[in-house]
Amino acid sequence: MDQKQLIEEIIKLKKERDAIILAHNYQVPEVQDIADIVGDSLALSKHAADTNHKVIVFCGVHFMAESAKILSPDKTVLLPAKDAGCPMAEMVTADRLREMKAQYPEAAVVCYVNSSAEVKAEADICCTSSNAVKVVESIKNKQIIFAPDQNLGSYIAKKVKDKEFILWKGFCITHKRVKEDEVKKIKELYPDAKILAHPECEPEIQALADFLGSTSEIIKEAREIPEKDIIIGTEEGVLHILKKENPDKKFYLLSPGLICQNMKKTRLEDVYLSLLHMQHEITLDENVRLKALKSLERMLEVR
Ligand code: 13P
Ligand code: SF4
Repeated sequence: MDQKQLIEEIIKLKKERDAIILAHNYQVPEVQDIADIVGDSLALSKHAADTNHKVIVFCGVHFMAESAKILSPDKTVLLPAKDAGCPMAEMVTADRLREMKAQYPEAAVVCYVNSSAEVKAEADICCTSSNAVKVVESIKNKQIIFAPDQNLGSYIAKKVKDKEFILWKGFCITHKRVKEDEVKKIKELYPDAKILAHPECEPEIQALADFLGSTSEIIKEAREIPEKDIIIGTEEGVLHILKKENPDKKFYLLSPGLICQNMKKTRLEDVYLSLLHMQHEITLDENVRLKALKSLERMLEVR
């Protein structure tokens, strides 16, 4: 099948199955273009919680589809690329988090959504990169265990000064690839450009950025600032929407390393096969789901 036929088949199957296609901002352009909703982790969670469709096809990585299933247990949630995982999410396990909780019994546990359902079940509340500061500010405890992203954790710690943070030592392998000398070189090349970066970047990179935010916050900032040259410090998938929305601006990727192999695993063929065979369905242990749901629901209540 060529691309045009694939798209037609996907649209047809989507109707037959009563499905909605959600895609993360890091997905390949053709997958973003076929999706009903493209967004950051928070927006996609909200859509997953609110949708009336029977089937959710989640074009992203495993923890995102799992969050959709936690929030919408009656829906069939499909992950088109079966082995699309997030290495950062695998850097924390429920057992190791329980050990840390025992060490700091007074601490509240804030868990980045980039984590498994079992880990979310051990947390008091979840957060994404767009609501992390508000989530932490909503907590009464003085001590906060933040897992698994150390860089997002240190970003929050700089903003919320009256808390004591115990940071898990996880990181995003994609954002970690950005090196300080790459930032300096690109700044020399485009001295008038603004750098918009993700808080998953290392602290020394964060310090060199003009703006830090989630993928959707970066997209919004790029739309609103007057600068015509913009340097992007997050996964290259966001360039698709940035270029589409801002034809008068030029975008440069902060580092060629900003490609997440897992986010690139979903192809149009996978979306088609997923709808055709109803594969690969996310299933969860109900006890784990109910506990993880509390952490996610608390997050969604934070305004
Ligand atoms: P956001 O889209 O929430 O900024 O998430 C970034 C990310 O790394 C997802 O895996
Ligand atoms: Fe995980 Fe980083 Fe890829 Fe996001 S970009 S899915 S945090 S490895």
